[in-house]
Amino acid sequence: MKAIILVGGEGLRLRPLTCNLPKPMVPIVNRPFLEHMVEHLKRHHIIDIILAICYLPDRIQQHFGDGSSFGVKLSYAVEQTPLGTGGAVKNAEQFLKDTFLVFNGDIFSDLDLTEMIKFHRDHKAKATIALTPVKDPTSYGVVELGGQSRVKGFIEKPSPERITSNLINAGTYVFEPDVLALIPAGVRSMLERGLFPDLVQRDIPFYGFNSPAYWLDIGKPDDYFKLNHDLLIGKAVSRLPGKPMADDIWLEEGCNVHHSVKLTGPIVMGRGCAIEQNVEILGPTVIGAGSVIGQGSIIDEAIIWQNVKLGKNATVRNSVIGDNTVIGDGTWVNDSSIISDNVTIGSGNKMEHGIRVWAGKTIADNAISF
Ligand code: GTP
Repeated sequence: MKAIILVGGEGLRLRPLTCNLPKPMVPIVNRPFLEHMVEHLKRHHIIDIILAICYLPDRIQQHFGDGSSFGVKLSYAVEQTPLGTGGAVKNAEQFLKDTFLVFNGDIFSDLDLTEMIKFHRDHKAKATIALTPVKDPTSYGVVELGGQSRVKGFIEKPSPERITSNLINAGTYVFEPDVLALIPAGVRSMLERGLFPDLVQRDIPFYGFNSPAYWLDIGKPDDYFKLNHDLLIGKAVSRLPGKPMADDIWLEEGCNVHHSVKLTGPIVMGRGCAIEQNVEILGPTVIGAGSVIGQGSIIDEAIIWQNVKLGKNATVRNSVIGDNTVIGDGTWVNDSSIISDNVTIGSGNKMEHGIRVWAGKTIADNAISF
């Protein structure tokens, strides 16, 4: 069975991490998010995958190519302008002749795809939508089900007194190719606001597959943090890169960790990192390949991307640092701050309270303190 993954969005809510990188390529425990998805599909023997690309398409194509190094066959459906989740599926119509799956390319889940496909077939559905329960559905689009889990309707962000269901769209669908005729070609449309209500109105067999599987949308910075943490603490399952050096400490080859360094897992370190003397690293933390952590620095629950250079006696707590960023001596980056890629921050700065620094910026020594 073929699958299409929607990876063309701009990821505006995740900025500044997505200034130079499409959201599906942001690293989750040192591997692009999309690699985790591809692995999940492979576990269910889905290896013929179409990527619907638009924003920064080269970053995706250069990494994945034809998919052979990842054990899958990849094709690309390219949009010149964003066609939305519906238009993007329609744009891939030439590849979709049989029953197919559609995935939002920013949702991590261990959903049982094999079961979902069986459910779709057993119900003789034309469309099936995966659903996940949430505690508070008021900030989501809720899906109402009738008998035999047939989709009855959708309520966008219901007020507390209008809550009739706590099931929300989990961003995975199974479709029969004939539903494609209901999506207009060449224009922007959303599955959620176009095709889905249309299927209900036309009384086309459309079912909800309710699953308690792990589910997380990485669209917002807090959830980006959460997914990294959940994988590191084993709450969600994925293969961690590297070899275990001790309990909960995973290192890829070529890391140089000074014997005075204190490590408290879970920690994952990419290839060729250098950790200088008297550094303390507390997990859950991820450090990307080629990063250098200067003498006496403290890293505490941080996500550090590749080739980051941290000076001496610096601190990074509960924050993300993007690729190739340089942080000066004694600088603090704390409290859910996000420093994008290719940033240079001088020494003696205090970056706190969820500060965001855009890609390519330079901040002088002692310029920021709260
Ligand atoms: P925000 O700008 O933060 O809303 O993010 P987004 O638009 O990238 O993601 P959203 O959650 O709105 O979309 C869900 C999924 O659909 C993501 O994986 C997006 O990459 C993808 N997507 C959204 N719009 C388009 C589009 O116009 N074309 C394609 N191919 N994919 C899209």
